[in-house]
Amino acid sequence: MSLPIVTATRYVLPLREGGSLPGVVEGNDLGTYVLKFHGAGQGPKALVAEIVVGELFRRLGLRVPELKLCELDPAIGKSEPDEEIQELLVRSAGLNLAVDFLPGSFGFDGSSGVPDQQTQARILWLDAFVANVDRSWRNPNLLVWHKDLWLIDHGAALYFHHSWMSAERFTGLAYDENDHIFGRAAEAVPAIDAGLAAEITPELLTEVLALIPDEWIEAGDRERYFGHLTARLADRSAWLPGGAR
Ligand SMILES: Nc1ncnc2c1ncn2[C@@H]1O[C@H](COP(=O)(O)OP(=O)(O)OP(=O)(O)O)[C@@H](O)[C@H]1O
Ligand SMILES: [Mg+2]
Repeated sequence: MSLPIVTATRYVLPLREGGSLPGVVEGNDLGTYVLKFHGAGQGPKALVAEIVVGELFRRLGLRVPELKLCELDPAIGKSEPDEEIQELLVRSAGLNLAVDFLPGSFGFDGSSGVPDQQTQARILWLDAFVANVDRSWRNPNLLVWHKDLWLIDHGAALYFHHSWMSAERFTGLAYDENDHIFGRAAEAVPAIDAGLAAEITPELLTEVLALIPDEWIEAGDRERYFGHLTARLADRSAWLPGGAR
């Protein structure tokens, strides 16, 4: 199994609110996508985290915009006057990550209702598991679209891979739930912990890791991700929101 592949046909505009300068593009399937570039600051590993985390969360019942791979010919940006963007496009020739664009969505701020306690606890638990630090009130990376909550921007998760810290160290890495937008749902974590952990089977992790394109990882990395995630799943004492009980 692999993610669908589209080709970018038009660079529409940069999303300047995003630190990695993602762009909106049109694809040859007439879809509109938020393109996350392999040539951006964090490199392809941020895109690996987007795929692994996004596809894991999706399979566990959370809403994540559809992910595809996108072939980019930097020539499509030739009328874009900004030099920084031109350079980013040139560096990003080849395969990038396309996130289905949700037109008319807006950033979650709680004003149109909040998810139920169990959903909040599920999001909190999963963000703690993958060490996602990008779900704060300041920067929740949650979109409201057609009244539903959608999760985006998982490129900073799994940060063990930047220096490949050991699985043991990753397992012992604490998670600060006080900085999480749904941190107060920690009290509901004990009720969901065992069930959610059991949903993350070896087969599920293997399926999700298989979606990473070979271009973005080194030989053997899939097994390393599997080892790190399996170890952190098996011993939740250091990172479980609300503390291990
Ligand atoms: N699928 C989408 N549909 C509509 N808007 C989106 C989508 N993905 C991202 N956006 C908009 O673009 C902004 C930047 O996207 P995102 O957070 O993924 O980028 P980033 O460069 O990783 O950002 P950050 O600066 O938070 O690290 C989002 O805050 C949101 O406003
Ligand atoms: Mg963001």
